[in-house]
Parts: sequence; structure tokens; C-alpha cells
Amino acid sequence: MTDKAVIGVTGLAVMGRNLARNFARHGHTVAVHNRTTAKTKALVEEFGHEGTFVAAETAEEFVASLERPRRLVIMVKAGAPTDAVIEEFAPLLEPGDMIVDGGNAHFADTRRREAALRERGLHFVGTGISGGEEGALNGPSIMPGGSVESYQALGPLLESISAKVDGTPCCTHVGPDGAGHFVKMVHNGIEYADMQLIAEAYDLLRHGAGLTPAEIADVFTDWNSGRLGSYLIEITAEVLAHTDAKTGKPFVDVILDQAEQKGTGRWTVQIALDLGVPVSGIAEAVFARSVSGHADLRRAGRGLPGPARTGTAGSPVSPDDVEKALYASKIIAYAQGFNQIQAGSKEYGWDIDAGAMATIWRGGCIIRAKFLDRIRGAYEADPSTPTLLTDDHFTEALADGQDAWREVVATSARLGIPAPGFSSALAYYDALRAERLPAALTQAQRDFFGAHTYRRVDEDGSFHTHWEAGNTEARA
Ligand code: 6PG
Repeated sequence: MTDKAVIGVTGLAVMGRNLARNFARHGHTVAVHNRTTAKTKALVEEFGHEGTFVAAETAEEFVASLERPRRLVIMVKAGAPTDAVIEEFAPLLEPGDMIVDGGNAHFADTRRREAALRERGLHFVGTGISGGEEGALNGPSIMPGGSVESYQALGPLLESISAKVDGTPCCTHVGPDGAGHFVKMVHNGIEYADMQLIAEAYDLLRHGAGLTPAEIADVFTDWNSGRLGSYLIEITAEVLAHTDAKTGKPFVDVILDQAEQKGTGRWTVQIALDLGVPVSGIAEAVFARSVSGHADLRRAGRGLPGPARTGTAGSPVSPDDVEKALYASKIIAYAQGFNQIQAGSKEYGWDIDAGAMATIWRGGCIIRAKFLDRIRGAYEADPSTPTLLTDDHFTEALADGQDAWREVVATSARLGIPAPGFSSALAYYDALRAERLPAALTQAQRDFFGAHTYRRVDEDGSFHTHWEAGNTEARA
């Protein structure tokens, strides 16, 4: 008779399988289940030596194999399949049991599911997991939501399989109900922004500075050992150094230049619009992917007049300037993303510790970077800061880098190289610095055509000007 499993994983596609192996490798007896039993058998046959697996053929067997309170992790496609699996298992569970959804679910779905299962006495723990296949196996960054009670039972297990940085697990209780999936969504939005900025840096080095992909790979390798050190910079260097075996060309040149997306970046922007948080860096990244995918539009636009974007060696774009522009723009994108976490936390009463999110993103996840330790430090110094930009380190970096940043944005405009991430980040920075914004004129226009009223700088209250009757002003 096998011991009961401390945790179970159902849905054994690559992420589920690797997560189950990660639990087993950490000495946890793990029950495994899949809709088609072949996958369950294959997992145990291939990896059974890594730990103790309890293979279950049916949902009933799976549930019966778990110690109480049961911890059941579902690793299925977000959306309808998640609801179907919940409906399959929930009737078999008992009060106090936990269903952990490790997929990329929309946090609103997680809130709905959590509320419905709470009514039935079950805990539903929407959990963001980042790090891809490799992370799931060797240590991901884990962002669990749900009740404090569920974290007491789950936390130690999840922390044990997560990545560690300086001995600290990249896993913490994010907050109630959908908080974990919300934070994972923003993580992905930031991931989009970071990737877009890196792509722009590459484009400028290639077409502005006239470097080859192999040379740019060296530049990225060099940057990776500095303040930009991160997983995304590291893999960029690897990708750019790769030569296509079939054609002998740089690999990056044989890939269709149309970026796809599964939707988490888009969700981040949609929700940011609802919350009224300016996440222009993430939005530009989503739109840049969208522009790239519009083949017809691009075909129609290809002949439009403008500078030929052919790079020449010795052109005004220097790798050092691009590094500064990239770091400055990255600071803006992350500051905006963290503001969205704070806004979501306030809106939904989650009480999310922003510094703790930076802490658990230092390792395991796709955006892992040295830089996140700086963000952790900034929140430690001032947990309620309205923006990371006023933290000493970031203010200094923005001050030191901004001549280069402005030069890079100006050069990209002059050469006709699109750099929406760099330029919108700079525009955001300048907007925050401005004493006065032209929004005053916008307000006046709104009052002119729609009597929408405005506020004055010198008096409290709302006012309307009778534009049609001698421009007299009245209190609204
Ligand atoms: C992660 C990744 C992962 C994935 C997303 C983004 O944190 O491990 O973010 O969730 O790569 O699905 O993919 P898209 O670019 O397709 O939206």
C-alpha cells in the first residue's frame, strides 16, 4: 500500500509533467493524473526513478490517493477546460480541500471560481507560475492567490519547488482570490514591454549602428554582465549568435517578422485602461506585435516615403547610448507595471506587497533580472512610493542616461527606425517631470463643445464658460 500523496497534479502536458517531477524530486509524494492515461503511464515509466509518484487512472482514484486536506493542482488550458476540470473534481472533494489552478487564467475568472468554490467549502488557489518548461522542472517563480489558510497548507510545498535567490524562495502569498493571477498577468505585460525594448535596441544596433547579428550578440553578452543582466538579455545574445543550419544566414533573418501572442499582454493593457493606469510601455509592446502581424497593412505601407533605414558603421547610434536608452526605458516600463499592481491591489482590496513581488521575480521567471533586486530595495526604502522613478538609484540612472536616451530616440526618428517603446517611455518621463501639461487645453475644449466643466488653478470647485454668450464664466 503506497503512502498517500501530499499533492496531486492533473493535466500532464509539459508544464504539468515538469511540475509533478519537480515535486517528486523534492521528496514529495505526488499523485499524477491525466485525461488520457497514456501520459500518466509514460511519466511514471520515464521519470519514476526521480521520486515517489502515485499514478491514478480515474478522477476518483486520484482524489482518493491524496492526503487531507487535499491539494490538487490543475495544469490545463486556461478558459473552458479549467471550468470543466473543476466541475469534474469539485464534487469529489471535501470541505477544506484545495484546488490550485497553475494555468495562465484571467484573474476575473479566478475571482469567480474562488467565490463559487468557497460557497462549497473548497479553497480555490489561482496561482501564477512563470519560467516556462524549464522553470517548472527546475524552479519557477510562483505567485499564489487565494486564502491565507490555503497558503498555510500549500506555501511550504510551493516554496520548496520554487527558484531561490540568496536562499529566499521565489514564491509568496500574493493576496486573496485573483491576486496571484493578476500579478502573473502584469508579469507577462512587463515581459512584453521588456522584449519590445530589447527588440528596438537590436533594431537600432543593426540598422542605426550597422552591426551584424553576431556583433550584436556580443554587445548583448557584454550588457548581460552589467546592470541589464537578465534572462531575456542572455537569451537574446544566444538567439542572435545562432546561424540557420539550412541557409547559413543569421537565424534572426530567416524568421517571419510577425510576433504572436496568447493574450496575457493584451489583458494587462485592457485592465490597465479600466483601472486608469498609464502602462504605455506595455501597450506599445502589444501594439507593436499587432502592427507586425498585419501583413496587408504593412504591404500597403511599404512604399511610403521616408528615410532609407540602412545602417552605416560610424553612424550616430552607439551601443553605449542604446544601453542607456534601454535601461532608462526599462525602468519606466517596470515602474508602470508596478503601478498597475498597486492599482489592482487597491481596487480589489488585495493588500499586495509590491516589494515582495519584485523579490519573487528575481529568479525563476521570464523577467528575472538583477534589476529586480533594485526594485525590491526601492520598495523596502519606501513601500508607498507613488513611482519607482523617484528612488535614488533610478533617478540617478535616468539623469545619467537621458542625454543618450534623447539622442537615441531622436536618431531613430531621423533614420526612420520605429522605436515606440523607447520614445513612449521618454514621453512618459517628460510628462511626469512637466510643471504644466497641455491637458489644460484639453479641458477647455471639453468645456467648449460639451459643457464638461473644468477646475481652476486658483479657486476650488468646477466651472463652465458660456462660450456662446460672451465667454462669461459661472460656477458649475
Ligand atoms: C512565463 C511566460 C509564459 C508564456 C506566456 C506568454 O511567465 O513563463 O510568460 O506564461 O511565455 O504564455 O506568451 P505570449 O507571448 O504567447 O503571450
